[in-house]
Amino acid sequence: MSIPATMRAWRVHEFGGPEVLRLDTAPVPSPGPGEVLVKVAAASINPIDWKMRSGHLRGIVQIALPRALGRDCAGTIVAVGEGVSDLAVGQTVAGLADPTRHGTHADYAVLPAAQVAPIPAGVAPEAAASLGVSGLSAYIPLVEDARLAAGQRVLIHAGAGGVGGLAIQIARHLGAEVLATCSAANRAFCIELGATRAIDYATEDFVAAAPDCDVVLDTIGGETHVRSHRALKPGGVLAALSAAPIPSTPSREDIRIVASRIQATRVRLEQLLEWAASGVIRSTVESRVPFERAPDAYRVSESGHARGKIILTLA
Ligand SMILES: NC(=O)c1ccc[n+]([C@@H]2O[C@H](COP(=O)([O-])OP(=O)(O)OC[C@H]3O[C@@H](n4cnc5c(N)ncnc54)[C@H](OP(=O)(O)O)[C@@H]3O)[C@@H](O)[C@H]2O)c1
Repeated sequence: MSIPATMRAWRVHEFGGPEVLRLDTAPVPSPGPGEVLVKVAAASINPIDWKMRSGHLRGIVQIALPRALGRDCAGTIVAVGEGVSDLAVGQTVAGLADPTRHGTHADYAVLPAAQVAPIPAGVAPEAAASLGVSGLSAYIPLVEDARLAAGQRVLIHAGAGGVGGLAIQIARHLGAEVLATCSAANRAFCIELGATRAIDYATEDFVAAAPDCDVVLDTIGGETHVRSHRALKPGGVLAALSAAPIPSTPSREDIRIVASRIQATRVRLEQLLEWAASGVIRSTVESRVPFERAPDAYRVSESGHARGKIILTLA
């Protein structure tokens, strides 16, 4: 498979607003030991992308400039690094880049082989790409951290968002009763995905509407996080992603609060892709944006009101 010397990549040379995103011609990276080089077919936009672009995550993730953004993608392996024997050139895969290295909003991306899984038949590249950051961010808190079980009640904040839309479906598959917060405009979307009740966060008190929950998935932080303590029954679990800063507040002693750590592994990605192939998870891709128009996609994500997943499509 012939690999060009250069590629297109959305990079930042300095941190800042949408204007710092540049479509550069950059060298195609080479896979090192334990890595694969993927020709990207689709990549998703996640809030972490514009948080990295703006410099918000400088203290948390090492970001050397210039830097190609983007965390996840789906595509075809075009080269494998030393020691990679379980993946091969020509395989279609989905996976995540190392957050400290160049990302996936480019024609080619290097991914650690351990963070890559083959895409099963019947799953489109854009659907596979949409399961990366968001799928793991739904799966790890619900399945591994909270151990959500059949018959339990779960409240999912931002049910219409990238993480929430997948979380509703996973929770439903696990047999839980699913309640979700969203705006009035997204009620039908959340119900179609499997929520038994969609709570309008602008006009309803979710603590009153979703009492005695076994689990809350907090994708919002801030005051929503604090109020979520009261939606839990004794022994309940509040699984939180890094979102808005959480004000310090006395916690209840009879609930467990987990800051979920989102780490890609092949096993986790395989599970998500298998659910996509078997119809447990339907694609929540609501917006497809050609690669050349990536800044438009970043703007939609940064509005805080994207519905489902936004995908960059590459020729
Ligand atoms: N490693 C981690 O810890 C990790 C991983 C993944 C994500 N995150 C964080 O988790 C957050 C969510 O990620 P995402 O990908 O799901 O974002 P997203 O797709 O951009 O979420 C957008 C959704 O949030 C909803 N929303 C906004 N304010 C809300 C509120 N007060 N209550 C309920 N829903 C609200 C919007 O609904 P309406 O349009 O209906 O208002 C919209 O559907 C982000 O801050 C992200 O950075 C952290």
